[in-house]
Amino acid sequence: MKRSLVPSSAGAAVRAVVRPSLDALRAAGIEDSALNAYQTRLDRKVKGWMHHATATGDLLLATSDADAATPEGLHTLRQLGADLGGILAKNKLTAVTLDAQPAALTVAEGLALNAYRFTKLFGTKAKDQWTLGQLDVVGDHAAEFAAWNALIDGVTEARDLINTPVLQLGSLELAERAEQLAAQHGFKCTVLHKAQIEALKMGGLLGVNKGSIDPPVFIVLEYFGQGATNEQPYALVGKGVVFDTGGISLKPSNFMEDMKCDMSGAAAVIGTFCAVAAAKLPVNVVGLIPATDNRLNNNALVPGDVITISNGVTVEVLNTDAEGRLILADALHYAKKYNPKLVIDLATLTGAASRAIGPYATVAMGTADRPTWDALQASAWATHERLVEFPFWDDYKDLIKSDIADIKNIGGAEAGMITAGKFLEYFIDYPYVHLDIAGPAFLDRAITYYGKGGTGVGVRLLTHFLAEQSKA
Ligand code: BES
Ligand code: MN
Ligand code: ZN
Repeated sequence: MKRSLVPSSAGAAVRAVVRPSLDALRAAGIEDSALNAYQTRLDRKVKGWMHHATATGDLLLATSDADAATPEGLHTLRQLGADLGGILAKNKLTAVTLDAQPAALTVAEGLALNAYRFTKLFGTKAKDQWTLGQLDVVGDHAAEFAAWNALIDGVTEARDLINTPVLQLGSLELAERAEQLAAQHGFKCTVLHKAQIEALKMGGLLGVNKGSIDPPVFIVLEYFGQGATNEQPYALVGKGVVFDTGGISLKPSNFMEDMKCDMSGAAAVIGTFCAVAAAKLPVNVVGLIPATDNRLNNNALVPGDVITISNGVTVEVLNTDAEGRLILADALHYAKKYNPKLVIDLATLTGAASRAIGPYATVAMGTADRPTWDALQASAWATHERLVEFPFWDDYKDLIKSDIADIKNIGGAEAGMITAGKFLEYFIDYPYVHLDIAGPAFLDRAITYYGKGGTGVGVRLLTHFLAEQSKA
């Protein structure tokens, strides 16, 4: 989708106009016939967009007095944009000029997110697929537009990565794509390969990889923004399981079919780097992505195996399907060498998180201080990528004690999302936030501005958070 800023919508074949009121629409010079029809609709209390075909083209009208200064207002405006996307798709309109006041980029964000389609794997069907080829936004906010564009690119890239099956995106392809995006958007990417991973004694990543014929990779992203004041970087860690079969503790097929999404944390980190670097935010941030598939070939880990994570902690692997925490353990230990200000991990870690709150929010927990949580929550509300804080009490730690190793990788039937988080706590020595995105990362139906499939959840949240932090 090409996106650009234009001075006005005059002359465009498909125009979408939003104003706070009917009077404001009138002031925008909307034709009388269209205004009268819109007025009639309002009298009948029909809300939302009106599609009016005129002699010169398609005119779409809506009024909204949502307050863009509040999180609720922002959400409403993005939803309005998403609804517009539905109308454009239904009418197969492939280009639009959006004239929305006062919050054009917010409405455009909802539209751009809604209009995302994953088309790259269509063969013969491609020509029948609707896509929005061109989105022109009326306005002169050039500086804001660059950051907005970068954000949409970041989310789009994350979603493409998630939606791409493991056949096309194994660990090496994920690393290659990260390298390409780094070159394109202006951040640094270093890929550690198997020999280096062995030298670092990353027993978690190597253990999960044992059943695979593809090698593991450990991807390191670095972005040091000009004018950044945080000497200690933020670190973002993303789970990069490119496919999760469960391993020897094999998943039933109905639980396995969407497991190409098990690198959604990695995708969110890469997408955030695209957005942050392209917007040239003055912030220092590193990204760490351990990546492998989780399979059951060869001499894959078996239940009862004991492995040693890079910090020396031994883990009894009682369930090979609890693999995410094993690879994250090595990454969280690796993060220590940056002396980070704050580490945030994103992982499709537990079905328990998804069962607890569904696809509407991310399960969050950790050791960060209250001001950090408040800042994260403010970003969560502003972006509608909501967070629900769960307890991080030591009581849950007892559930992962092992008889023969330091800890085991499962904690029993209760509070699975928290025992997973407490497992990760063994590998940190810095302020820490764990985001379990298993619920919202991949959707089986459209929700708000996000369609089916990979959502890229985390990109908008973290980009907003880092942008706010860079101002502090
Ligand atoms: N990748 C899954 C978690 C998951 C489930 C993500 C559903 C997205 C949607 C993870 O590796 C997993 O299998 N977790 C197990 C852990 C259990 C064995 C302790 C789970 O949640 O069932
Ligand atoms: Mn698993
Ligand atoms: Zn997994």
